[in-house]
Amino acid sequence: MSNLSQAKKNQNQVSVGEFWTAKQRQAHPIHYSVSYRAAFKPELPSFFFHEYLGNKKKVVLDPFGGRGTTAIQANLDGHYAVHNDINPLSLFLAKSRQVIPSMAEITSKLETLDLSKKAKESEMDKDLLNFFHKDTLKEIKNLRALAKEDTSHAMNYIMLTALSRLHGHSKGFFSVYTFPQFSISPESQRRNNLKRGQKPDYRDIKSRILSKAKRDLSKGIPPFYHEFSKNNLYTNHSSEKMTGIETSSVDFVVTSPPFLDKVNYREDNWMKCWFLDIGTEFTDEISILHSVDGWASFIKASLKECSRVMKKNAHLVMEVGDVMSGKTLINLDDVVIRASTGTGLSWEKTYINTQKFTKLSNCWNVSNNEKGTNSNRCVVFRNLK
Ligand SMILES: C[S@@+](CC[C@H](N)C(=O)[O-])C[C@H]1O[C@@H](n2cnc3c(N)ncnc32)[C@H](O)[C@@H]1O
Repeated sequence: MSNLSQAKKNQNQVSVGEFWTAKQRQAHPIHYSVSYRAAFKPELPSFFFHEYLGNKKKVVLDPFGGRGTTAIQANLDGHYAVHNDINPLSLFLAKSRQVIPSMAEITSKLETLDLSKKAKESEMDKDLLNFFHKDTLKEIKNLRALAKEDTSHAMNYIMLTALSRLHGHSKGFFSVYTFPQFSISPESQRRNNLKRGQKPDYRDIKSRILSKAKRDLSKGIPPFYHEFSKNNLYTNHSSEKMTGIETSSVDFVVTSPPFLDKVNYREDNWMKCWFLDIGTEFTDEISILHSVDGWASFIKASLKECSRVMKKNAHLVMEVGDVMSGKTLINLDDVVIRASTGTGLSWEKTYINTQKFTKLSNCWNVSNNEKGTNSNRCVVFRNLK
């Protein structure tokens, strides 16, 4: 045990327990409109809102917003959200749920869309035809073209739902059998098709969008959700310089940063970027940090910037996993606490949530049985500035 870990134990500043449920998918279904690598469970931000934000109507920031878990949960729990992420895909995922249309709006919008007309041919077609039947591809391309002219809430939500249905394992997706979470290359899919003896069959996209939207909206949206979400702020900057977020404007931060990231964002997101017409240049800027030292400097700069935008005495919760460096288990909470020196934030407490299974730890190259523990470590700081 490191000196720091020992000191923490002595000071009783570490709480270990099951603070939020290990059960899957207990949260509001609107969180699951779309999947995202390394998303945390909505119960995590919700737990900390209840612990630290007694009064409602606070401003909650996630500087690494991902698919928008913190922002959506903040609105569901009666707070305003500031969602930042360097990835424009993340911005779309969060912003398309700022206003959630009714099923009636979605249905009538879908009815007006003519997806059967001839679509313009493009260079991408031969790649995409490894995944989609030609008539399915025609419908996807028509939807994509119509969305460029229609930025209504219903259309944005339809695009979000379509994005989540683009490719996957089951008949509920637009594609033939492929990986759901990231887009494999057209060449890998071609080989996959040969190996499995499969050919893309026709999949009607409207009915698939409709049934997914019905599932996600099955619980309804609490009436106050939009009262809060309408004041949300969405920014697309590096966590080290969150231009657009005012100094001393944030009451609470809950976040989970990227770490030792071997994800190739450009390759993994090529199809989603094509569908939303987003350039892939941003992928070069996403923090891909291979060493603990490099990561610690990045976290230091990000914590300093968080301190700037936070109000005095506001709290910040940073969720991290454990990783192996060679044969050594590194407790990232220790690294985060060390990195906070001189940032304006003072460490108060660490919560170690013990769960039988955490999706996040797998995404962080920690296998629960062999390489690391199955805990989420949440480090809590108070802003002194
Ligand atoms: C672990 S994920 C966060 C997941 C999020 N908690 C959720 O539930 O969806 C980390 C996020 O950090 C973003 N990111 C990477 N480098 C960044 C940077 N320099 N500034 C801001 N965001 C960054 C990635 O795009 C990714 O969405």
